[in-house]
Amino acid sequence: MDQIVVGILPGDGIGRIIMDQAVRVLKALMEEEIASGHIVLRPINGMTIENRAAKLQSLPDEVFEEIKQCDVLLKGPMVTPRAGDLWPNLVSANSLLRRGLELFAAVRPIRIPEKNIDWTFFRENIEGEYIWGNKGIQVNEDLAVDFKVQTRQGSERIARAAFEFARKNGKKNVTIVTKANIVKLADGNFIKAVRKVGEEYPEIEIQERLVDAMCAKMLDPEFNKGIEVIVLPNLYGDIVTDVAAEHQGGLGTASSSNLGNKYAMFEAIHGTAPYLISHGRGEYADPCSLIRAVGMLLAHIGYGDRKKKLDDALDICTITERKVVLTTMPEDASTKEFTDYVIETLEKI
Ligand code: IPM
Ligand code: MN
Repeated sequence: MDQIVVGILPGDGIGRIIMDQAVRVLKALMEEEIASGHIVLRPINGMTIENRAAKLQSLPDEVFEEIKQCDVLLKGPMVTPRAGDLWPNLVSANSLLRRGLELFAAVRPIRIPEKNIDWTFFRENIEGEYIWGNKGIQVNEDLAVDFKVQTRQGSERIARAAFEFARKNGKKNVTIVTKANIVKLADGNFIKAVRKVGEEYPEIEIQERLVDAMCAKMLDPEFNKGIEVIVLPNLYGDIVTDVAAEHQGGLGTASSSNLGNKYAMFEAIHGTAPYLISHGRGEYADPCSLIRAVGMLLAHIGYGDRKKKLDDALDICTITERKVVLTTMPEDASTKEFTDYVIETLEKI
């Protein structure tokens, strides 16, 4: 590609705060490529909750057109109104973007070195309970029905993504996480599809876990023995990756690729943190999630060396040297101060 257009979608709440800092890091790492015009950063400003609510559209048509002109996207968290909120009928912009761009694989790494954990989750990203913007049926006041939809094709393609990753990275195991003892059809078929694709990867062992046990026992070395790559339906992937992120160091440390055959979007796995905003602590949000997403984006467009450099700098800033302490409390480093430290560290390595 002669020119790579990176769409920047700041999102809502702490999204805007951490995005400012993530973009500073991106600019620091790619100074030359941006100056030469090889990489273009293009702000997409229409995806704010204010604009979406004014238009009563979660993904306004003209904004989606702008988004499709980009090659890759860096995205901050966006408010997803829930029942009882203002605009409860607005469906999730996150889901619409994933579905609209056919980003069927959410790839979420979790590393907990002291527990010997280095996992990569492959969350199916557009089916399950998230299908059709999750529009269920309120049959009557007493009866609500939501859908869970799982197709063979959708299951096979996330499975293939997981096995390909395992093969390329010398991983020996793919673990399927479901609730197939209860959700017999959708999850049963998911397992069947993953096992079928797995036949093409005979060197990779397949094992299964149930989602409730996975959440409860993920740190138990007997239970998690051999787990390296995990493939799971959409909603379980949502929940299990949050649990795993908490063990890694907090939701603010975890990032996600959203990959399809044409587009790719990189983001933090957490939400907009209204609690931090309403308590005046938004400026203390952990930006590591979105900064690591910058690294993933760079690796995706061919700059694996910069991702490595950034990961090394973040490890220095959060583990080995750790000269500033980042929490959400005002006595510790702010989002900006922590990012200053990351950029200074990048300059030194
Ligand atoms: C995530 C988020 C989203 C999801 C929300 C914001 C729609 O929690 O990326 O994990 O449920 O997928
Ligand atoms: Mn989530």
